[in-house]
Amino acid sequence: LFAGEVTFLKGVVAMSGLPAADRVEVCFAGRSNVGKSSLINALTGRKGLARASNTPGRTQEINYFALGAQGYLVDLPGYGFANAPVAVVAKWQALLKSYLAGRATLRRAFMLIDARHGVKPVDAEIMDLLDRAAVTFQVVMTKADKMSAEGLEKTLAQTRAALARHPAAYPEIVLTSAEKGIGLPTLRAIIAGLD
Ligand code: GTP
Ligand code: MG
Repeated sequence: LFAGEVTFLKGVVAMSGLPAADRVEVCFAGRSNVGKSSLINALTGRKGLARASNTPGRTQEINYFALGAQGYLVDLPGYGFANAPVAVVAKWQALLKSYLAGRATLRRAFMLIDARHGVKPVDAEIMDLLDRAAVTFQVVMTKADKMSAEGLEKTLAQTRAALARHPAAYPEIVLTSAEKGIGLPTLRAIIAGLD
C-alpha cells in the first residue's frame, strides 16, 4: 500500500454502497473527535482530504480513499457522543458495526485511542465486536502532543492491560500526533507492509 496517489473515492451510507471487495483495505475507527480524519490527512500529507473538525460527529459516512490501485484507506464515523440527532447517529452506528464485522477485505482496523483518555467502555465494546468477527485491530494513540511523557506512560499501561483481554488485538501500540507528525512514518510503514 501507499504505492500510488491517494484520492477520495466515495462516501458510503449503506452496506450496499460499499465498493467491490477486490483489494485490501484498512480502516480508522474510534470515538467521535479522537482524530481519525486528521490522522488520514497527516498520513497522506493532504490537509483537506478527509474533513476534520472540532465538532464530534463530523464524519457521518464511510469514506473511501484509494491508494493508487493497491488498496483503500477507510475513514469511519465515530462512535460515542456525537453532535447530531439521535436517529441519525443510531443509523450510522449500525452501519459502522455492520462494516467492521462484515467486510471480507478489511485487513486491519486501526483503533484510535485519545492519549489523554485511554480505553473507554465504548472502545472495549467495539474491540469485543472485532474479536467476534476475527478482525485484527491495532491501537493507535492520538494527540500525543497533548500529554506529558509521564501521562503517556500511564495511558499506555492502561491500554496494554485492556488489550490483554482481546484475542484480536495486535500487541504493538503506535503513538501518534497528527499535529506534530509523531509516529507517521511508523504507521505508514505498517500500512505499506500489509497485503
Ligand atoms: P469524527 O469524524 O467527528 O468522529 O472525528 P474524528 O475522529 O475524525 O476527529 P477529527 O480528525 O475531526 O479531529 C477532531 C479534533 O481533534 C480536531 O479539532 C482536530 O484538529 C483535533 N486533533 C486531531 N488530531 C490531533 C492531534 O494529533 N493533536 C491535537 N492537538 N489535536 C488533534
Ligand atoms: Mg472524522
